[in-house]
Amino acid sequence: MFDVQKIRKDFPILQREVNGKPLIYFDNAATSQTPQQVIDVIVDYYSNYNANIHRGVHSLSQEATDAYEQARLKIQTHFNAKHSHEIIFTSGTTHGINLVANGFSSILKKGDEIMVSALEHHSNIVPWQMLCERTGATLKVIPMNQNGELILSEYDELLNENTKLVFVNHISNALGTINPIEYIIKEAHKVGAAVLVDGAQSCPHIRPDVQALDVDFYVCSAHKMCGPTGVGMLYGKEEWLNTLPPYQGGGEMIAEVSFEKTTYAGLPHKFEAGTPNICGGIAFGAALDFMNTIGFDNIAKYEDELLDYGTAELLKIEGLKIYGTAKNKTSVISFNVGSIHPYDIGTILDKMGIAVRTGHHCAQPIMDFYKIPGTIRASFMFYNTKAEIDAFITALKKAIMMLS
Ligand code: ALA
Repeated sequence: MFDVQKIRKDFPILQREVNGKPLIYFDNAATSQTPQQVIDVIVDYYSNYNANIHRGVHSLSQEATDAYEQARLKIQTHFNAKHSHEIIFTSGTTHGINLVANGFSSILKKGDEIMVSALEHHSNIVPWQMLCERTGATLKVIPMNQNGELILSEYDELLNENTKLVFVNHISNALGTINPIEYIIKEAHKVGAAVLVDGAQSCPHIRPDVQALDVDFYVCSAHKMCGPTGVGMLYGKEEWLNTLPPYQGGGEMIAEVSFEKTTYAGLPHKFEAGTPNICGGIAFGAALDFMNTIGFDNIAKYEDELLDYGTAELLKIEGLKIYGTAKNKTSVISFNVGSIHPYDIGTILDKMGIAVRTGHHCAQPIMDFYKIPGTIRASFMFYNTKAEIDAFITALKKAIMMLS
């Protein structure tokens, strides 16, 4: 059974105070917190078997290699990839996106079209703009409506035989909208376009099945799902990963090197040049174990309750406007109060021990759409509580009074 008080005990950081008040951590969409079970794995790695992988004949190297490859298998199972070599360790979502964007430089040509959605994070816009500059391809944008939902009829209109790639996030970091990626993938495939889904915000809340989705590429970061920063994964269909050229040259990604010619290693090593974040990869596996023990169905159900409760309570505050009112959304609430600057509210909330994110959330086109400089964003995880939401609402009212 889901017991939030028991779960909270696993997170040492949730026991601390900030500015003399118990920490209320509502900035989970930026970085989730790390449970003791994952911290223990990190400490164990550096205490007992820190060594480079795939290289040494010695025992420590073997142990580290086994643990790292074990983590890859856990990720494969979690996302239901067909092959473990379809899982590429990256430094995070941004790295995965850039790896794919770079690979398509040698495939796209002038006249080709690629498509992003109006709901993207800058990391799922800028690499594609750079790709367009390199190749002469054109960037198209799937527009959104006032609720923060993609307009699928416009998507259908934009798709054509020149469309080669579509990039969309599974869940918007700024608004919490859950995008209909099943539909987007199915329609893109009808015109022969590949689809990359940015799962940075979805993986903490739901468990994607990459085979059922039939997605071509799926990327995410461990630090959004109870793991450490600096590690993530790129899933790519085997045939795509075999087609794309390597992203970086270096050790580990080669079969043979001479000054005349180098041949590349097979998957996944072709995309894993250099010493990776070994401890991070192992801890990523431990974070998946932790979340799967709680269960993604339990997580989603509980976070939906927090979202409904938080939304209802916030809407009782006069002058408060929520941005992102999609029917299908996750536990992210972006809002403003009258003309008060989000930063001012965020600063006062921090004085009361409450962590929220303020600003444009690396999604300036969304802010431009709503004609606002930014929002206050409260994002909940399964270890947050309704009592924390109550304390947040009280603190927010105080902040509004001070600033009005
Ligand atoms: N992309 C992260 C966020 O939305 C950092 O906060």
